[in-house]
Amino acid sequence: MGAAYKRSSNNPERILEFDLSAELNHGMAVSNLAYAVAMQLGLDSKLCYELAIAGMLHDIGKLKLTCYINGQECNPLVIEELKYVRMHPTLGYEELKDQGYSDFILESILYHHENYDGSGYPSNKAGEEIPIGARILRVCDVFTALSSDRPYRKAFDRKTVMELMIEEVKNFDMEVFIAFQKVVHNT
Ligand SMILES: [Fe+2]
Repeated sequence: MGAAYKRSSNNPERILEFDLSAELNHGMAVSNLAYAVAMQLGLDSKLCYELAIAGMLHDIGKLKLTCYINGQECNPLVIEELKYVRMHPTLGYEELKDQGYSDFILESILYHHENYDGSGYPSNKAGEEIPIGARILRVCDVFTALSSDRPYRKAFDRKTVMELMIEEVKNFDMEVFIAFQKVVHNT
């Protein structure tokens, strides 16, 4: 992520301030945008619908993570929290995998923090090794997060969001990024 929206290492604030209403809003926004981008890319309508579901559920692993971290008495070190935060795609996948969701939905959730250049997590997948649903969620998740207020910063304006995303474009599938830009410019 770009320096402009990195957390300050001096900031004692917890990373995982879990706000259910904010999480639901984020899920809804990612869901709507991912559906539109999938449509723009010409994905099968069933997959577009499934991606809307994955968008709603992509961060559900944070619920488990919050219970885990809040179970600890004292504030864990930020570095420890970062390590745990990286578990949330896998925790979400594990939570949902026996509940009848399609592989497309499950893999979109599991790999939504993979970067196109292979620098993401949990599996350091790169390029088209990353399932298309996850590549779409990656772009929509970053856009939605930067466009929203966070406990440690205000939302960025649209122009700044686009500049920050272009700085980090190595993380994204360019075809997905172009489709996303078309969707955003039409809204
Ligand atoms: Fe996430």
